[in-house]
Amino acid sequence: MSDKPLDAAVVQAAARDFKDSETGRGIVEMGQFMGVSIAGQQVTVRLGLTTHSAPLWAEVREEFEQHLRARLPAATQLRVERELHSRPAQPLGEIGLTSKSVIAVGSGKGGVGKSTIAACLALALKRAGSLVGLMDADVYGPSIPHLLGLTGAGRPEIVDNKIQPILADGMPVMSMGFLVPPGEAVVWRGPMLHGAITQFLRDTRWGNLDYLVIDMPPGTGDIALTLSQMLPLTGAVVVCTPQDVALLDAVKAIAMFRKVNIPVLGMVENMSGFECPGCQKRYDIFGRGGARERAEELAVPFLGDVPITMQVREHGDAGTTARLFDESATAVYFDRIAYQLVRNLADQARRQPPMPQLPVLS
Ligand SMILES: Nc1ncnc2c1ncn2[C@@H]1O[C@H](COP(=O)(O)OP(=O)(O)O)[C@@H](O)[C@H]1O
Ligand SMILES: [Mg+2]
Repeated sequence: MSDKPLDAAVVQAAARDFKDSETGRGIVEMGQFMGVSIAGQQVTVRLGLTTHSAPLWAEVREEFEQHLRARLPAATQLRVERELHSRPAQPLGEIGLTSKSVIAVGSGKGGVGKSTIAACLALALKRAGSLVGLMDADVYGPSIPHLLGLTGAGRPEIVDNKIQPILADGMPVMSMGFLVPPGEAVVWRGPMLHGAITQFLRDTRWGNLDYLVIDMPPGTGDIALTLSQMLPLTGAVVVCTPQDVALLDAVKAIAMFRKVNIPVLGMVENMSGFECPGCQKRYDIFGRGGARERAEELAVPFLGDVPITMQVREHGDAGTTARLFDESATAVYFDRIAYQLVRNLADQARRQPPMPQLPVLS
């Protein structure tokens, strides 16, 4: 604690060990301490945060305020204002994808709501303020175009040798469903699959992203292996339902991701109970809480659950998935998962030891 008279340097010194949630490095060092104004005991500090941290904005502002209060008792009226700090993504791996985080959403088997969760995770991150793209890597059964009402959007154009993704309310989306007519069977061989995924990642104009969410095909590890060889994935989210058999598949999916060195960021329990809209009673049709227990056993974070609701099914079928966010009763589940995911990434970044400073050669 400091009893020095308040001036900008004292406030800045008090801010120095507050860590940015995206990089885990000090906000002063990262240029996110955007200024301070002092009028008597009234101190207003401007904190710059990136769109990558958008789901945490309110919380980080609050944390920073507390951090400063504890160190500057003389500032009896202290306020932190949040500003946007711009920090574009660096190209990832050989593929050159400009996304800060790449999140694969997988499951042991189909039909557990993996595509629904992938789409809603992307939408929740976007609505919080992050820059998000959604890639449908389920080349055998692409369902993202349908869930987002993009089936009539036509084929993506090629401009300057780059595929222009289809935009869903401004969010870039790429899917095999845009290239193959619905209902048509495609027989994929390994190298073709590899080629398609490469094109989706390397040759699509994704722009500058905070998060690329990838809807993975269920089960088999070939796409996961392809992805892991192509770029450093941030990690995978595994979706399952609460029945024991489904959990067994989820455990296999976790083992598969670990085998190809993709970190598992957490588990989501979908179709976790049903709230009867008529009587408000809750029925745990498939049981409840199994994923949370299994996640604990496997030392994997639990990210949240989503109950079975008529709205999720109806909006999914109607291609109006984005409208699930109009109702806070359904949005809350997806917002919570997006929040928990980004919170865990931030905690992980902050735990990392700081990068050594390179000596400045003069
Ligand atoms: N929480 C939920 N409540 C109600 N229906 C759901 C829920 N999650 C998914 N569904 C429905 O289940 C079906 C399968 O979901 P989908 O996301 O396509 O699964 P997957 O990608 O795992 O095959 C869809 O009709 C979808 O609308
Ligand atoms: Mg699917």
